[in-house]
Amino acid sequence: MTYPLWPRNCLTMFAVQFKEACWAYGGFMRLEGKVAVITGGGNGLGRATARRFASEGAKVVVADIVDELGEETVQMVASDGGAASFIHCDAVSAQDNHAMAAHALENYGAIDILVTAAGVSHPGYKSGDNDASLKWWAKRMDYFENPATELLDLELEDFRQVMAINLDGTLLAAQACVAPMVEAGNGGSIVTIASIAAKHPDAGPIPYVCSKSAVWMLTKKMARLLATSGIRVNAIGPGYIDTHMTKMIELIPEERLTQFFANIPMGRKGVPDEIANTALFLASDEASYFTGEILHPDGGYFTE
Ligand SMILES: NC(=O)c1ccc[n+]([C@@H]2O[C@H](COP(=O)([O-])OP(=O)(O)OC[C@H]3O[C@@H](n4cnc5c(N)ncnc54)[C@H](O)[C@@H]3O)[C@@H](O)[C@H]2O)c1
Repeated sequence: MTYPLWPRNCLTMFAVQFKEACWAYGGFMRLEGKVAVITGGGNGLGRATARRFASEGAKVVVADIVDELGEETVQMVASDGGAASFIHCDAVSAQDNHAMAAHALENYGAIDILVTAAGVSHPGYKSGDNDASLKWWAKRMDYFENPATELLDLELEDFRQVMAINLDGTLLAAQACVAPMVEAGNGGSIVTIASIAAKHPDAGPIPYVCSKSAVWMLTKKMARLLATSGIRVNAIGPGYIDTHMTKMIELIPEERLTQFFANIPMGRKGVPDEIANTALFLASDEASYFTGEILHPDGGYFTE
């Protein structure tokens, strides 16, 4: 049945005004009734996103390779008054990713949102292990003086390890979650975590920048393939955000650090909540006409 345009417009306007009034009185939550799966939810950007989504009414599945970190996020969500549960998931395992999707369906009955925040900056990266990260970064100091050695020293195995977690991990999580989303026919939203390194070669080591540019292309490809299923797929390409991953920046010699922040007009790192808020926008109906897009919360890095 088709309706004349004017009552439909009136209804839409009423719905928008009603929603805004509810927000104004704090009675409306952007993700009420939604189920969100978050890989890498045990720390940093994934953890902040899990807490933000839960605060907006979503039921959250926290997936991570480090069980203690994932369980900790679930505790945080619970003490904020939200709903979440943890499942162990190694991003590179197809089996673990399918178990993650099954966990969401068994516990909460659906998957509406997927955020792929599991990732590493270098081979052997372990979130929370500061000493290991600082040692790895110290070795790289030489590359400032002799850039060609970064290329020549790179082991293929190390390249593959980072590509596997960042790129294969994004693909596998999407495949596992999209199947039930398509079957349910209710659409949904996928938010991948790329980086400014998706577009700028200086924003990380070789395997990292290659993996992130591939995540960005995978995001666009999935957006085109899933548009008719009502599933929007967008990426976030954060600049330098204050998580375990960027602790290593503190090792950069003073003069280079000044140069580093000179590339960021806002002159500071971002905080995880600034990425969580970007993810919230992309996951919510407020981004209903966004797909195949990348948003860069980066303090102005890309104004050059
Ligand atoms: N922090 C930044 O400045 C920044 C900027 C751009 C992009 N990113 C990206 O954001 C994502 C999250 O990074 P972060 O800064 O929050 O780091 P983080 O170390 O705080 O969090 C990463 C999480 O991913 C998990 N993880 C690592 N390997 C995994 C695997 N194989 N399977 C499942 N989980 C795994 C870790 O246990 C951890 O909980 C990464 O993809 C990173 O590349 C971060």
